[in-house]
Amino acid sequence: MNKKYIIALDQGTTSTRTIIFDQHGKIKGISQKELTQHYPQSGWVEHDPEEIYKDQLTTFEEVISESGIDPNEIAGIGITNQRETTVVWDKETGKPVYNAIVWLDNRTKEICEELKEQGLETYVRENTGLVIDAYFSGTKLKWILDNVPGVREKAEAGQLLFGTIDSWLIYKFTKEKNHFTDHTNASRTLLYNIRDLKWDSTLLSALDIPKSMMPEVKNSASDFGSLHYKDVLIPIYGVAGDQQAALFGQGGATQGIAKNTYGTGCFMLLNTGNDIVLSKNGLITTICCGLPDSPVKYALEGSIFIGGASVQWLRDSMQLLKTASDSEEICKRIPPLKDLYVVPAFAGLGAPYWDANAKGAIYGLTLDIGKEEIIKATIEALAYQTKDVINAMIEDSGKLLSTLKVDGGASANNYLMQFQADILNVPVDRPKMIETTALGAAMLAGLKAGLWTSEDIATIREIDTVFEPKMDRKTRKDKYEGWLQAIERTKSPIK
Ligand code: G3P
Repeated sequence: MNKKYIIALDQGTTSTRTIIFDQHGKIKGISQKELTQHYPQSGWVEHDPEEIYKDQLTTFEEVISESGIDPNEIAGIGITNQRETTVVWDKETGKPVYNAIVWLDNRTKEICEELKEQGLETYVRENTGLVIDAYFSGTKLKWILDNVPGVREKAEAGQLLFGTIDSWLIYKFTKEKNHFTDHTNASRTLLYNIRDLKWDSTLLSALDIPKSMMPEVKNSASDFGSLHYKDVLIPIYGVAGDQQAALFGQGGATQGIAKNTYGTGCFMLLNTGNDIVLSKNGLITTICCGLPDSPVKYALEGSIFIGGASVQWLRDSMQLLKTASDSEEICKRIPPLKDLYVVPAFAGLGAPYWDANAKGAIYGLTLDIGKEEIIKATIEALAYQTKDVINAMIEDSGKLLSTLKVDGGASANNYLMQFQADILNVPVDRPKMIETTALGAAMLAGLKAGLWTSEDIATIREIDTVFEPKMDRKTRKDKYEGWLQAIERTKSPIK
């Protein structure tokens, strides 16, 4: 039978989706489930790994039955996932020993301080490309080993496995219970040496983590095993962390391409080719997905923890919005803001500030400010935060940005995209398909399956709109200076 479809399993922070792409890279079917967020204490964020697996399976089954395709027509599966989120499970039973600790969770700030006191900052930077922060998996894994009764003994006896969400799904979906991950996900753990492409023994021992728990690391376009569905074996041919997948989906296999994804957070990545560029300005260095069998490529990344999550906060916690998409009309209708800034440091500040103790704040409240102004200031904060990381990227790479490629849910907001172009003074290029994360994972699998060549995938991306900057120089300068003052006032006295 003609194998002409690729499936992307897209496991994100707030939802789990399965998308079918046809051989032209067009969406043929999509199924989605919201993921329950657990906040057991202030600063803690957890997911139920069983819910993640169940939702992934249900959306997979739903999308196949709704689209009416024959599973024999599926050439391969690409998995893309929220990165860093940490799961530990029993090798034999597959039962998780604790909830997944989510990337946004900062309960391990003290463990990070201890690592800094051991003088490991430079080592971590040079060998993992990262900064010591609770964001990455390593300290989350240590927390589980140290705090869940009986877990350390079992881990030391070789009975437990660690994985990010990709590994967890591969283990659950493959009959052989494969324990694999890919370079992009491994590079987010704080435990992977991005120079020699091995688990780093210095950091494993500093965090007291048995090496037997770690998955085997493969190229993003590889054979990760097969999913068994109705007697059909469907190979998992692509795996990548969601931000690297999005870069790939934007044509970012090539050096010099940059993209910003407006998801739960905002993540800006610039492909720096085969060179490891270490930032002097608060960015991190990470591995990007490459073409099958080609040498590993690297990227500079600016990770902003709160992007679309702040719009969810406006809707769910503050109840200022009925739907996230209502924000566009409100922002367009009300007059420009004067000195009003929302700094959404709900999970501390990520790049380029790395201040885990910062808390969210609103500045510039006067009696005329109502809920619509707060909504607009929250949307504009996504653009200001992006400018912060782009400035750092320009400093580090020594190159000006000619265009910003964008994707992710909030990139559908035309006000935000125009404001982004204005505040950057750079055109913003939005593709027709903003589901670039899923598309990138599908491309990896399609390449490995032989459905597409690298020339084919270069033609899949189509431009929807290019937002040209319109704001005058003085307004841009004044607004951004006001933002930087708001950031200074938000930083915590203790870092
Ligand atoms: O590093 C965290 C990132 O992978 C989460 O992405 O799309 O779930 O916001 P997203």
